[in-house]
Amino acid sequence: MAKRIDGKAFAEGLRERVGEAVSSLQRDHGLTPGLAVVLVGEDPASQVYVRNKGKQTLEAGMKSFEHKLPNTTSETELLGLVNQLNADPDVHGILVQLPLPDQIDSHAVINAINPDKDVDGFHLINVGRLSTGASGLVPCTPLGCLMLLKAKLGDLSGKNAVVVGRSNIVGKPMAALLLAESCTVTIAHSRTQDLAEVCREADILVAAVGRPEMIPGGWVKPGATVIDVGINRIEGEEGKTRLVGDVDYASCEAVAGAITPVPGGVGPMTIACLLRNTVQAACASNGITFDFD
Ligand code: GUN
Repeated sequence: MAKRIDGKAFAEGLRERVGEAVSSLQRDHGLTPGLAVVLVGEDPASQVYVRNKGKQTLEAGMKSFEHKLPNTTSETELLGLVNQLNADPDVHGILVQLPLPDQIDSHAVINAINPDKDVDGFHLINVGRLSTGASGLVPCTPLGCLMLLKAKLGDLSGKNAVVVGRSNIVGKPMAALLLAESCTVTIAHSRTQDLAEVCREADILVAAVGRPEMIPGGWVKPGATVIDVGINRIEGEEGKTRLVGDVDYASCEAVAGAITPVPGGVGPMTIACLLRNTVQAACASNGITFDFD
């Protein structure tokens, strides 16, 4: 049977290390990292994420600033808030929760954030830094996946990595991170021919397509490491809903060498990496060496 990768436990350990880093920043530099989270509208899933982010930010000993704006907020108003946060020296990280309402251009808002406060790593400057190997802020979910992979496998150099999904939030930055670790990287997606064959070549298979249980065990190379980024809510028994990933866990677990479960795999890593990125941003903006990893 495959080894289950316990993302929940790993994320708890990471959050503890963030808490220790915050304590030493306060002790040695009188600096408390601060994270501002902006939520526009009332999307229930976004409200849950934002609440958890605020709670975990405070638990790590950092300052948390929450801005909740109505669904009718204009782009100009939101840009005004972003500029105010850019100028606030107590705010080291800014996260604008996506998706935004239709009247707001998400790209315009993301690219208005000071790139050195862009803890999501979505700003064009940070995308460019990642793809050219310069240091910068890296998107949280792929960073969390990479940490789990390195913890499990050690050196990733020379491994065949297949990323299924090409989103700007997960697929593309994941591919860039794996390439930087000297993997041979393939990005597959909905138009890929012979997707099963492509997946079967993977020593590392990252699924980030948002399609419930799309990848069966028959697509997995024996002994491969499978990272499931999907979080899909489907109808379960007796009208109840349950969470499943993008891979069919039962059949993949039988073939894989290691696999992340859903829930309790990649999910908890995302907020832990957001806290880590906030510490990184606070250090960089104060000229403090960040020797975290
Ligand atoms: N909505 C879903 N995932 C994310 C994320 O990683 N960052 C932001 N800002 N919004 C999201």
